[in-house]
Amino acid sequence: MTQPPLIDAFGRRITYLRLSVTDRCDLRCQYCMEEQPTFLPKQDLLSYEELTAICDSFIARGVSKIRITGGEPLVRRDVLSLIEALGQRLGNHGLREICLTTNGTQLARYATRLADAGVRRINVSLDTLDEVMFQRLTRNGRLGDVLKGIDAAQKAGLQIKINAVALQGENEHQIEDLMVWAHGRGLDMSLIEVMPVGEIGVQRNSQFLSLKTVRARLEERFTLRDIALDTGGPSRYVQVAETGGRLGFISPLSHNFCETCNRVRVTCTGKLYMCLGKENSVDLRNTLRQGGPVALNARLDAAMQDKPERHEFDVNAGPAVSRSMARTGG
Ligand code: GTP
Ligand code: 5AD
Ligand code: SF4
Repeated sequence: MTQPPLIDAFGRRITYLRLSVTDRCDLRCQYCMEEQPTFLPKQDLLSYEELTAICDSFIARGVSKIRITGGEPLVRRDVLSLIEALGQRLGNHGLREICLTTNGTQLARYATRLADAGVRRINVSLDTLDEVMFQRLTRNGRLGDVLKGIDAAQKAGLQIKINAVALQGENEHQIEDLMVWAHGRGLDMSLIEVMPVGEIGVQRNSQFLSLKTVRARLEERFTLRDIALDTGGPSRYVQVAETGGRLGFISPLSHNFCETCNRVRVTCTGKLYMCLGKENSVDLRNTLRQGGPVALNARLDAAMQDKPERHEFDVNAGPAVSRSMARTGG
């Protein structure tokens, strides 16, 4: 890297880019989007060449980890060609890691190509192993597709973390089973507190379950030992003695982790969001189209000054931001 790193106004170094390649999804998780969401018009999407150019600007400034997100990233046509192009940036002076966050429904088709492109770790969102609950939570998804996808990904040698949102009155009494299942298959798992993002017509306080409560319940049956594992994300990990597996807690409400935030997000239309929980964004699309990489580079510095100190989520208030998680990419 010959150019200076990206550092925000609070001295935080930005090394992690989350790139949402589409806001579309083949599922409709109740805590994420409405039953009939309005998606961004397809003509507003940046091309893969443009997204790659944006990634290159970040890489030149020291971003070493890119996570491809969505919506569901694997529903965007030929997304593997983008991932393969980014795969060329892995290695010395470029990227350390390309990761993917997926709902798993299309994994059976793409697992081998992902591994061949240089992806090593993926996160699969899965909140329950109960078929009926899965169907209800995702509004008609098929659990079997995700399980097949996980099988294929393991066969392809991908390391998998299961992401489960803890939901009051829904999966809260299945978390133990899910963890035992994941650890039994050699998978890591993270639990996530539901975040009040998106105008999706739900009362967040009726969904919210604090991970402090979940942890206390787990500790009645399992021995949890804090470990120092740092994957560059917001999870704080424990090792579970009885299963031998790792469990992460992503607790944006009960434990704010913004002090060590190292990441920003770019959407499929080229909006750069400095924080998941804030409205302010910078339009990289016009900057790229009108000024090319030089303008883009200058814009990144300006954007860093705009990164908020912290999110302020409150499940008892309305949504912190109007856009859904699927648009920002989690
Ligand atoms: P690794 O640590 O690389 O495994 O990934 P990760 O946990 O950063 O990524 P993943 O896509 O699995 O994200 C899991 C959850 O963490 C998602 O629900 C994200 O929305 C949430 N998350 C990631 N970064 C932030 C953040 O900066 N703020 C908040 N509030 N949530 C975040
Ligand atoms: N709060 C917390 N997590 C959410 N996800 C989607 N919407 C929300 C929300 N409102 C999760 C998905 C996926 C990850 C990218 O974000 O389940 O695991
Ligand atoms: Fe799709 Fe993920 Fe949102 Fe579920 S949480 S609807 S899988 S983007």
